[in-house]
Amino acid sequence: MGIVLRGGAIVTSTDCYQADIRIEGEKIAAIGSQLAQAGDNVVPAEGYYIFPGGIDAHTHFDLPVSTISTADDFASGTRAAILGGTTTVIDYATQFKGETLRQGLDNWHRRAGGNCYTDYSFHMAITDWNEQVARELPWLSQEAGVTSVKLYMAYKHSMQLDDSALFQVLEGSLGCGILTCVHCENGDIVDNLTRQLRQQGKTAPAFHPLSRPPRVEQEAVNRLMILAEMTGAPVFVVHLSCREAMETVAEARLRGVRVFAETCPQYLVLDDSVYQDTTFACAGYVMSPPLRARENQAYLWNGLRIGILDTVATDHCSFNLLGQKDLGREDFSKIPNGAPGVEHRLGLLYTYGVKAGKLSLTQFVDKVATTPAKLFGLYPRKGTIAPGSDADLVLWDENSRFIIGAASHAHNVDYSAYEGIAQQGKAVHVFLRGRQVVKNGIATGDPLGKYLFRKPFLRSEV
Ligand code: URP
Ligand code: ZN
Ligand code: ZN
Repeated sequence: MGIVLRGGAIVTSTDCYQADIRIEGEKIAAIGSQLAQAGDNVVPAEGYYIFPGGIDAHTHFDLPVSTISTADDFASGTRAAILGGTTTVIDYATQFKGETLRQGLDNWHRRAGGNCYTDYSFHMAITDWNEQVARELPWLSQEAGVTSVKLYMAYKHSMQLDDSALFQVLEGSLGCGILTCVHCENGDIVDNLTRQLRQQGKTAPAFHPLSRPPRVEQEAVNRLMILAEMTGAPVFVVHLSCREAMETVAEARLRGVRVFAETCPQYLVLDDSVYQDTTFACAGYVMSPPLRARENQAYLWNGLRIGILDTVATDHCSFNLLGQKDLGREDFSKIPNGAPGVEHRLGLLYTYGVKAGKLSLTQFVDKVATTPAKLFGLYPRKGTIAPGSDADLVLWDENSRFIIGAASHAHNVDYSAYEGIAQQGKAVHVFLRGRQVVKNGIATGDPLGKYLFRKPFLRSEV
């Protein structure tokens, strides 16, 4: 007995066409017409787009930061994700100082195991690089199924790695099939600018963006491009936020650097005018990089359209305004960084990309599902609609309209970064490996998400 989704408009990264999808067990068995057999559960899908389940390759759930942890853990975060049409997340497992990679990864398995409503995998954030850790890279990629690492060029005094470590990780990644993701901001300059602002008494959250201007991001991207060029290692720039950084990526690509880049809905839809708010509420927008001047948005949308930017992820990292963000009430540099968004990624990109004529439907699917799957070793199991792929499917009602806000979102956090913003289109029914996990916009059932071992990074996939 199977499930047949009848008559939806299937959208992949290359095509849009009307057909039935037959699901058997966890997989797509066939695509065609009149696929129903006796005893099948036939789901009428006429009038819906059917997208492959979204892949959010940048989340931080249950992340400890100083004395607190993110407001969303794996249960609330992945439940919000699935309601928004994301069926796989790749979270940043973190090796804290003094730990091995194995200890860091075990820690994240404990946090996520049995709690996820989406399928999930991990990148490994390395914050303490040494010879022993270097020897763990082949294990990480070949046995643990973690084929990407993350390095921070920012957050001096906590997670920042110096150039020597950066260079050595890139060299070590070669031959292991590891893609190195990098947070590009010059943490030393951020540290100096922050100190200067503090000395001038500029400690309110509105001053956060002045401590991390676009040049700080561009300088770090440029340094990374040169290190990638010298080592020959592939790199992935996370949460790219501004024109200057994107132009640096484009130039590097033209001269043959193996670089890929991600942006996030917040940089496409929100801008730095939020920092004009003189109340503490603008702490909700203390994220790194910060929101940028509105002029940047056209460049980022064009970058997505012409392929300088490869993927859109949320960098979901939620902290409550009350009791968490307000740890920095007297000093913006003590505000835990990050913002919520995992539920809204598809909706914002659909509304302000596809409906606004900035992205085609196929490009939309490419950025939210297909290219993340290819870059991070999940394709074609995930990221497409094809026989043999996991039946991760989103039935999308393009006529649904609503206003995003904290009163109705599924995030477990006391504010919305997108409060009052309109969304068009909604994930009405969602299937995860053949099980219906969202029905009429409501999450049904238990956390069924499985850990995904990922394939090594292969240049030929992208
Ligand atoms: O402000 C941000 N982006 N917080 C999350 C951690 C990171 O830098 O990705
Ligand atoms: Zn980051
Ligand atoms: Zn992040």
